[in-house]
Amino acid sequence: MEFKEELKNYQSIVNKELEKYVRKEECFEKLLNNSVEYSLMAGGKRLRAILVIDTYRLFKQDYETSFSFSMALEMVHNFSLIHDDLPEIDNDDLRHGKPTNHKAFNHATALLAGDALFNQAYITISNEMNKQAKNKNYDLLEKEVRAFNEFSIATDRMIAGEYLDTELEGKQISKELLQYIHENKTGALLKLSIRMGAILAGASEKDIEVLSKFADKIGLAFQIKDDILSEEGDQEIMGKPVGNDKELEKCTYVSYYGLDGAKQELNKIIEEALEDLKQFNEKAEFLRGLTVYIRDRNK
Ligand code: IPE
Ligand code: IPE
Ligand code: MG
Ligand code: MG
Repeated sequence: MEFKEELKNYQSIVNKELEKYVRKEECFEKLLNNSVEYSLMAGGKRLRAILVIDTYRLFKQDYETSFSFSMALEMVHNFSLIHDDLPEIDNDDLRHGKPTNHKAFNHATALLAGDALFNQAYITISNEMNKQAKNKNYDLLEKEVRAFNEFSIATDRMIAGEYLDTELEGKQISKELLQYIHENKTGALLKLSIRMGAILAGASEKDIEVLSKFADKIGLAFQIKDDILSEEGDQEIMGKPVGNDKELEKCTYVSYYGLDGAKQELNKIIEEALEDLKQFNEKAEFLRGLTVYIRDRNK
């Protein structure tokens, strides 16, 4: 199957599964639930959930086993986007081609929709672990406890990265600090997705190690490309603003290295990431496609 077709397939699997978590019932807080749905089902690329599933499939075929964790990761990711767009952070009005959550609803609702999504991730994971405990499936439960531990630590790193990204606007920072911000605010959840897929599927420690090195690279590459798109992307295609990093004097790979320098860094990291996948056979074909996609994407 062509990469693009496979990506679409995965996206519809994830969207169908996520839909199950949308609360539709009549209740007093219905508007809050609508606000959660507005962001969660807005048409993100679903790369984090897909990475969990596809990495799982490198080792085991029953990929539905990874669903609770992959959906929970999309919930945390979308929570981070709702809060990232708030006036106190990036002050953006457009996301996924629609008004941002706080523009479509109001600030209090957006804040709480973010909180609700954040916590829904933990409900989803704890429900899954509870189920395995009840079934006395301790082998899987042990893997899930490890995945859960990494999940909460990676989320902590994403928050730290978001803090630094916001706090250091307009400042001159070192190359090391710039890389640290990117590795945390964006890299942590992408690395988590790959590690969780491998952990849940029972991959060997050696394979988890190799995949983690690969994940470090694509996590960083993903944010460098985000920086490049914020400079020269097409707002219509991306569905989010262009030029906003510059406006807020964000510390980015483009502000540090210039546009061409950032592209060179990106190309170098992508080549290194592809090297890491060499030891995996044709089962890693989708991951190879995704690595190239991270470099070439226009949204
Ligand atoms: C955007 O991530 C925010 C960053 C971490 C750079 P994505 O581009 O993966 O967001 P969606 O979910 O596809 O919109
Ligand atoms: C978003 O980073 C990272 C998180 C939400 C954790 P950016 O602010 O650079 O991403 P966009 O451009 O708004 O999607
Ligand atoms: Mg931001
Ligand atoms: Mg932003």
